[in-house]
Amino acid sequence: MDFNNITKAHFEALLLIVGADYVSIDEEQLVEYGHDETEDFSFPPEVLVKPASTEQISDILKLANEENLPVTPIGARTGLSGGALSIHGGIGLSLERLNKILEIDEKNLQATVEPAVITQVFHNECKEKGLFYPPDPSSWGSCFIGGNLAYNSGGPKAVKYGVTKDYVLNLEVVLPNGDIIWTGANVLKNSTGYNLTQLMVGSEGTLGIITKAVFRLIPYPKHILTLLVPFDSPESACEAVSSVFRAGLTPCAMEFMERDALEWTIPYVDDFNIDVPDNVKAHLLIEVDGNELDSLYKECEQISEIMLEHGSSEVLFADDSTQKDALWKLRRRVGEAVKSHSIYKEEDTVVPRYEMPKLLAGVKEIGSRYGFKSVCYGHVGDGNLHVNIVKGEMSNEDWNNKLTDGIREIFELTKKLGGTISGEHGIGYVQKGYLDIVFNEAELNIQKGVKQLFDPNGILNPGKVFE
Ligand code: LAC
Ligand code: ZN
Repeated sequence: MDFNNITKAHFEALLLIVGADYVSIDEEQLVEYGHDETEDFSFPPEVLVKPASTEQISDILKLANEENLPVTPIGARTGLSGGALSIHGGIGLSLERLNKILEIDEKNLQATVEPAVITQVFHNECKEKGLFYPPDPSSWGSCFIGGNLAYNSGGPKAVKYGVTKDYVLNLEVVLPNGDIIWTGANVLKNSTGYNLTQLMVGSEGTLGIITKAVFRLIPYPKHILTLLVPFDSPESACEAVSSVFRAGLTPCAMEFMERDALEWTIPYVDDFNIDVPDNVKAHLLIEVDGNELDSLYKECEQISEIMLEHGSSEVLFADDSTQKDALWKLRRRVGEAVKSHSIYKEEDTVVPRYEMPKLLAGVKEIGSRYGFKSVCYGHVGDGNLHVNIVKGEMSNEDWNNKLTDGIREIFELTKKLGGTISGEHGIGYVQKGYLDIVFNEAELNIQKGVKQLFDPNGILNPGKVFE
């Protein structure tokens, strides 16, 4: 793609739109905004702008569209597929100043928020009013709602409550030509026209820039119980998972951690230590929630029985909120711990839940042929396994050249098992070379056609999703 470079005239035009304090070409800042949590990539924009309103974003996009300048929307930069990297330089458009919760409508159980609201902040504000916004990606303490929308983020609660898409009712979006639209209406049912709301969700900032979002909320459950279940065999742990759901139970978290994931993360959680006997090779972290404590205890008993039938020798019950918090800190920090342990690549595989043991066994088998080690963890209740491939002893040569074939085999396996190549992290910059595994030509063409319709000049988040 041939874009124009940012000139002094462009810089001055941006300055007029957002004001002198919010346009920067400071090298240090550009570098800071040129990376996210994806490996160690660095793609700084040529200029960083921080608009304060939908109208300013519209003016920026109009300028970029007329002048053929690439624009990369930038949120909290917690992404794991490189979606916020300014691959083609150009304008880095940080949404950080659009950070207000505009309304929590307690009468309708709805909320309207700007894209740079931190997910956990939104969750807590709703909770104070007895309302529940369930999507809770591991990075929820720092990630933005706008990024969650762009990637249709999930998190542990997704297994019972669904992902970001399941809570969105309506979006205000600035299109690449600067037009401002609302995608739907603030209603729970809507059969009016194409579902542009859901088209925007998961579009990775390639179709438009979300500037407001209206969510539906649900009542906050009164009680939550937490179990930690060790297993000698990771496959048995995964087999136990589908048995729980087949028994008619729906936990609100069903998370899996291989031994290494747990061990590597323990040092990252203060005052937390559990003794992991040598024979333990994986853990399930399970939660149930609801309003009737007695029935929750019964559910825990049923779940415990299923765990024991699948070979676990004990089910540990988290008695108080300190223990629960520590367990969740541990689970949420696995990604961070693996990252600081070794050079790694993260694959966000997803298969139908029952196929999970086959996926796990397959990943290990592929690893042994290619000579890589993997640390696996994730949302097994959703069939969503994060496969962290660690460089370990692998030579630079093999890491740089052979590994893509190994990853390809992993993705081909997910496809064969009825799954796909990303459950919640997106395609972004790093997985676009593998899309042919899951989409045939007709499927790819219809998607590219959508992009072409929204963004004929290809200025918005170029270099993402498609080659
Ligand atoms: C998690 C992120 C990496 O599940 O998706 O921890
Ligand atoms: Zn995850």
